[in-house]
Amino acid sequence: MTVTIVGSQLGDEGKGGVVDLYGDAADVVARYQGGDNAGHTVVHDGTKYKLSLVPSGAVRGKVGVLGNGCVVNPETLFDEIDTLRERGLEPDVRVAERAHVILPYHRALDGIEEEEKEDLAAGTTKRGIGPTYEDKAGRRGVRIGDLLDPDTLRERLEYVVPQKKALAEEVFDKETGEAFDIDHLYETYREYGERLAEEDMTVDCGTFLQDRIDAGENVMLEGAQGTSLDIDHGVYPYVTSSNPTAGGATVGTGLGPTVIGDGEVIGIVKAYLSRVGTGPLPTELGGVEDQTPDYDADEGANADEEELATYIRDEGGEYGTVTGRPRRVGWLDMPMLRHAARANGFTGLAVNHIDVLSGLDTVKVGHSYEFDGEETFTMPPTTEQWGRCEATFKSFDGWPAVDWAAVAEDGYEAIPENARTYLEYISDELDAPIYAVGVGPGREETVVVENPYE
Ligand code: GDP
Ligand code: IMO
Ligand code: MG
Repeated sequence: MTVTIVGSQLGDEGKGGVVDLYGDAADVVARYQGGDNAGHTVVHDGTKYKLSLVPSGAVRGKVGVLGNGCVVNPETLFDEIDTLRERGLEPDVRVAERAHVILPYHRALDGIEEEEKEDLAAGTTKRGIGPTYEDKAGRRGVRIGDLLDPDTLRERLEYVVPQKKALAEEVFDKETGEAFDIDHLYETYREYGERLAEEDMTVDCGTFLQDRIDAGENVMLEGAQGTSLDIDHGVYPYVTSSNPTAGGATVGTGLGPTVIGDGEVIGIVKAYLSRVGTGPLPTELGGVEDQTPDYDADEGANADEEELATYIRDEGGEYGTVTGRPRRVGWLDMPMLRHAARANGFTGLAVNHIDVLSGLDTVKVGHSYEFDGEETFTMPPTTEQWGRCEATFKSFDGWPAVDWAAVAEDGYEAIPENARTYLEYISDELDAPIYAVGVGPGREETVVVENPYE
């Protein structure tokens, strides 16, 4: 069977930790979208692994697959594999021949366009994600399979590179270097192709995964980013360029929708909100310069809110895994979660970070929005409309900081009562049961209510 792990908010909900938690029962862990814009953290026995591209199952020695829906930077991939090997792991990673390759000009153009876009910039990770998906849709991309076929690689580069060079130089008035040099790219990427072939890493993803399922194995599908960063269902244009939602798991792997739908789809929820990047955020607390729209650091938002935001940011370690940027924080946004529950069809929820909120007198949630004088319970379709929404808050009594490791051992009933009230509210509103509750970053710091593979 399959278990699909999906971020229900704006990324960094703790997906890596949940993949690791449930990964024990999985034989294969596959990513279905995104690339090295992701930063997934796995903490095991006090050791922290930060993974951008290699699926989080690698920490447990599972076979990792980068599906056809991913965009793959081979340099990052091999660096990450080599680093994991140096740390004593033996990652077994396969890459879909249909996956697209991030080339150096994609990265360069990501940076150039972000500068140019000003207010429309999403605050990307500058990993070349958007430009690579653009070329995929424009049918001028280079795929992993092409790296193993030097003639095709050369042909693709000869067509596309002059266009990219002209774009950078003539439209954006930038100087270009070896990132736009056909010979250099051909030599470098042909060598990546040789290494992929030598290590027998490429697969026909759908067939590879279906064969494993037919043999009775368990497959986990690891989403990156989150529902509100989805190019179709997120806060466009402040989104990523792929589909983190559960539908992406079928398109991005080649497994049929009925296969994914027969399994479980688990929504990962952070108990509050964090956001790295720009765009509106109705339940935001305080602000972060260069990310919060119209934010002036000298004026601040409101002293109490800023203090609370700093507290949550520091307690939760809310600084980007990939870029180190401070993340924007806010209260839980229920309309955003209702939208996610519908778009993904969650069969269960893992709610993380309830430990981070402990010690507060009151915990709030944005229960609904006031939008043009009306109460609304889900996200409106345009981001401009979303920016006009004002959250209507509901307050919960806070819960104390306790020995969370002991709580994880004792089970759900050991969670402080007020925190359980909060969890049950989320579960009721989303009409999905709680499968796990994160009470700390480590594998052992999770209250497991349900194991989806059992
Ligand atoms: P991902 O991108 O969804 O995999 O999440 P990240 O790894 O970017 O960010 C989540 C961060 O929170 C990581 O540092 C995790 O180790 C940490 N984390 C995950 N679950 C919990 C939790 O329940 N409590 C606390 N305090 N930290 C958590
Ligand atoms: P994980 O998998 C949080 C955000 C960026 C930016 C927007 C587009 O760790 O949850 P991109 O580089 O993808 O073109 O950037 O999406 N973003 C993420 N935010 N977690 C992530 O991944 C993210 N990946 C991209 O900050 O606003
Ligand atoms: Mg992350």
